[in-house]
Amino acid sequence: MKTLLKIGAKGLGPVPHEKRFPIRKIRKMTTTTRNRDFHEAKQAKKDEFYTSLRDIELELRHYSHYFEGKVVYCNCDDPRASNFFRYFSTNFEELGLKKLITTCYRSQDASHFGEGDSDHAVYLEYAGEKSGNSVPDAGDIGIKALSGDGDFRSAESLRLLQQADIVVTNPPFSLFREYVNQLVENEKKFLIIGNMNALTYKEIFPLFQNNKMWYGLSIRSGDREFRVPDDYPITAAGSRVDADGNKFIRVKGVRWFTNLDYPGRHEELNLHMRYRQGDYSKYANFDAIDVSKTMNIPIDYADPMGVPISFLDKYSPEQFEIIGSSKTLSRPMSEVATKGTYQQGGPRFYLPNGDGTYRRMYDRIVIRNKQL
Ligand SMILES: C[S@@+](CC[C@H](N)C(=O)[O-])C[C@H]1O[C@@H](n2cnc3c(N)ncnc32)[C@H](O)[C@@H]1O
Repeated sequence: MKTLLKIGAKGLGPVPHEKRFPIRKIRKMTTTTRNRDFHEAKQAKKDEFYTSLRDIELELRHYSHYFEGKVVYCNCDDPRASNFFRYFSTNFEELGLKKLITTCYRSQDASHFGEGDSDHAVYLEYAGEKSGNSVPDAGDIGIKALSGDGDFRSAESLRLLQQADIVVTNPPFSLFREYVNQLVENEKKFLIIGNMNALTYKEIFPLFQNNKMWYGLSIRSGDREFRVPDDYPITAAGSRVDADGNKFIRVKGVRWFTNLDYPGRHEELNLHMRYRQGDYSKYANFDAIDVSKTMNIPIDYADPMGVPISFLDKYSPEQFEIIGSSKTLSRPMSEVATKGTYQQGGPRFYLPNGDGTYRRMYDRIVIRNKQL
C-alpha cells in the first residue's frame, strides 16, 4: 500500500504549522491526572526540539565517505518536518545512498504533549527515484502509515532498523539510554544528538570507556538553537520567535554521539604543564589528583587523574586510557569523613578544604596517560 497519507505535504515549507503542532485540547482534570500530565508533559517537552539543517550539515560533512551504498534510518523523524530527512533526501545522490527510511512517532496518550504532531505514525522509504533534477519532498515520495505508534522500540520500527546500516537522528533525550542500547544491541553505526552529560549514565559510560562511542566533531562548546512547538514556554535568554511565529530555544551541552571514526579523534592533545605536588590536590575518596581544566593535565604524570567530562572533546584513545569515573570509582564519603563535614549526594569525588571539611566536585572522568 503506497501513499496512504498525502497530508498536503510539500516537504518542510508548506506543511501548515498548526498541523504539526496543533493546539492542545482542554479537558477536565483531577489532581492525580493533572500531576501525571504535568510530569509527562514536562518530560515530553524536553523531547520536542527540532534540529536545524545547519547543525546537521556541519556534522555530516565529516562522514560523507561512510554513506556510499548504505541504508540510512532516521527513526525519530517526521519526514514532513525533519531536517534529517531534508538533508538525506537532498544529498541522496551525492552521498551515493542506497535507501533512506524515516519513521515518525505518534504518542498514544491524548494528554501527552506532542500528540497530534502527526495524526498517524508514519514512515517513508526512498530509494532515489527522483524525477528530473528536483529534490523530492515527503509527499512526492509517499508517506505510508505504520500500524502502531512508531515507537523506536516497536516491532515495526525494529524491522526497519534491521535493514539499516547507519542511524542518524536526534532521539528523545528522556529515552537516550534505551535508544543507544538498542543501537548497540543491533550493532548499528550511528550519529545521534544528545546532551554531553549522558556519558555519565552507567549504561553509556562503558561505551566511551571501551572506545565504542565518542563525541562527534562539530559541537565542542556553547549552545545550539532548536525549534520547539508553539506552546513551548520560551522565557530563557536567547530564545526567539521568527517572523512566521516559529519558536526557537538555545540548548547548552549538546553533543553528537557516534561510532563513526574520524581523523581528528586521533590527534593528540598538546600538554604544557609539568607536575608539581602543591599544584594539584588529591581526592579524599579516591587515589587520584584533580585536574580541573583539561589544558592543565601534567605532561609527566603517569598515575590516575580526575578531569572534567569536557576532556572527552579532546580525548585521543592513543594518548589516554579512561579508567573510570567519579560515579564508578569514588568511595562513599561516610567511610572517609564524619557526617556534617561534606555535602551529601550521589557518588562523586571530594577535595579536602584544609579545615576538616570537604568540597563536592562535579562529575569527573578518571584517565591515565598511556604514553608514560
Ligand atoms: C529531540 S526530538 C527531535 C526530532 C527530530 N529527530 C529532529 O531532530 O528534528 C525527538 C523526537 O522523538 C520523538 N519521540 C518521542 N518518543 C519517541 C519514541 N518512543 N519513539 C520514537 N520517537 C519518539 C518525539 O516526538 C520527537 O519528535
